[in-house]
Amino acid sequence: MSLLVIGGTGTLGRQIVLQALTKGYPVRCLVRNFRKANFLKEWGAELIYGDLSVPETIPLCFQGITAVIDASTSRPSDLDIVKTVDWDGKLALIEAAKVAKIKRFIFCSTQNLEQFSNIPLMKMKQGIEVKIKQSQIPYTIFRLTGFYQGLIEQYAIPILENLPIWVTNENTCVSYMDTQDIAKFCLKSLQLPETENKTFFLGGPKGWVSSEIISLGEQLAGQSAKVNQIPLFFLKSVTQFLGFFEWGQNISDRLAFVEILNVENDFSKSTFDLYKTFKVETNEITQLDDYFLEYFIRLLKRLRDINFEDIQKQKNLII
Ligand SMILES: NC(=O)c1ccc[n+]([C@@H]2O[C@H](COP(=O)([O-])OP(=O)(O)OC[C@H]3O[C@@H](n4cnc5c(N)ncnc54)[C@H](OP(=O)(O)O)[C@@H]3O)[C@@H](O)[C@H]2O)c1
Repeated sequence: MSLLVIGGTGTLGRQIVLQALTKGYPVRCLVRNFRKANFLKEWGAELIYGDLSVPETIPLCFQGITAVIDASTSRPSDLDIVKTVDWDGKLALIEAAKVAKIKRFIFCSTQNLEQFSNIPLMKMKQGIEVKIKQSQIPYTIFRLTGFYQGLIEQYAIPILENLPIWVTNENTCVSYMDTQDIAKFCLKSLQLPETENKTFFLGGPKGWVSSEIISLGEQLAGQSAKVNQIPLFFLKSVTQFLGFFEWGQNISDRLAFVEILNVENDFSKSTFDLYKTFKVETNEITQLDDYFLEYFIRLLKRLRDINFEDIQKQKNLII
């Protein structure tokens, strides 16, 4: 089975590519920048030029492909093109997959779409899910939770650098996941016919509130965090205000996205059933404590090495 991965340079996409190659799948990555994607080539993937905002580049990428995994989304830095990528581009992708008679289309979507259909990106993802289902292409849709990787930027780095952490006053629970584990589910689904034409809500084994993540970071860093609370009503007002202006639409969408992670989630029952379907044991899944611990150990070691190099340089100067 040959795979086409869209979004291979992204946080989740790169884990999918790496695990697929490790499992022996021939992997082709649709990329818009060869230099940026060079690491995927070094891992053993084939690179092909494609850009979701240039639909005519898509069909050629499907030659000889049996399954596609779409882990792409517009970058927050790409202002004004959310619709071009996450709607027009995805429609072109589905059409090309249909023409190429793809045997499985795996789509990485997001949880809580229905509650947030006021957010354009959420509405588009919901619409794309419908289009995939209508396309007659065998599919698997994963509605994903927040990634551990995002928590590094949101909590770990600010704690280490003594920068403020912004949290809302809603102390709600999110069952985050490591992208390596999400990738595991995506690849397993290719081997499990019972996951065909199904939508799965993928969540981690434990729900976390922001205060727990902050204390974990404080414990590991050995220093206190500077926590600033931003009331949820304020966040909503800013979002609505920016939404009035065309230039602010993209920023407004991104801000509104923050709200998504502030919804009470309890996936314990469904998560248990899901792990059973995918034959994944809970102990195979990385816990946030372990993920953070590894990150802090690696980072503190690097800082020690840098300090050591500085001391050596200073010594050499003195000599
Ligand atoms: N991050 C989260 O916490 C989270 C939570 C729930 C669901 N999700 C969903 O999970 C999926 C993966 O998220 P992620 O955080 O891994 O994404 P990401 O790191 O932002 O990566 C986005 C990927 O999409 C590619 N891309 C963007 N515009 C493109 C275009 N015009 N043509 C071709 N490729 C394009 C990017 O390529 P370049 O490198 O060239 O920019 C990159 O590989 C997305 O569907 C996202 O909505 C994410």
